[in-house]
Amino acid sequence: AAERTLTILKPDCVKKNLIGEVTRRIQEAGFKIVAMKMVRLTSDTAGGFYAVHRERPFFGELVEFMSSGPCVPMVLEKENAVADFRTLIGATNPAEADEGTIRADFADSVGENIVHGSDSVENGKIESAYFFSESEVVANKA
Ligand code: CMP
Repeated sequence: AAERTLTILKPDCVKKNLIGEVTRRIQEAGFKIVAMKMVRLTSDTAGGFYAVHRERPFFGELVEFMSSGPCVPMVLEKENAVADFRTLIGATNPAEADEGTIRADFADSVGENIVHGSDSVENGKIESAYFFSESEVVANKA
């Protein structure tokens, strides 16, 4: 069945002028973009999005980076979207990402890794709702 996932083109992706190239790869891989916007997160909104990581040692660094410039969240739709998107982007640490993946090709570090991808359908729904209202997701016909 068609599935949805939430991605964020992170501030490093935007700063490196890679919005077009990364979006092209996403679409080339068969994902349909059903919502998209550019937003500047604050420490509060970035911290809220990554609340599950609040106790991690890298939380402060993560929040600082994610609020350092605009980013581009998108809701993507495809069969098996969650797993297929994670395959497309590669491992969190670009040094461990498979050749030809988005992170292997463009990411500098585990923190500045170009894109986020939801780790489950359930989390994808929660994450999508963090950025998009019903009426901002085109296929929802709200
Ligand atoms: P993401 O998939 O967006 O979700 C959590 C993020 O935390 C992850 O991508 C990484 O960018 C970031 N992260 C994970 N481990 C570390 C780390 N050791 N140092 C800095 N950031 C990290």
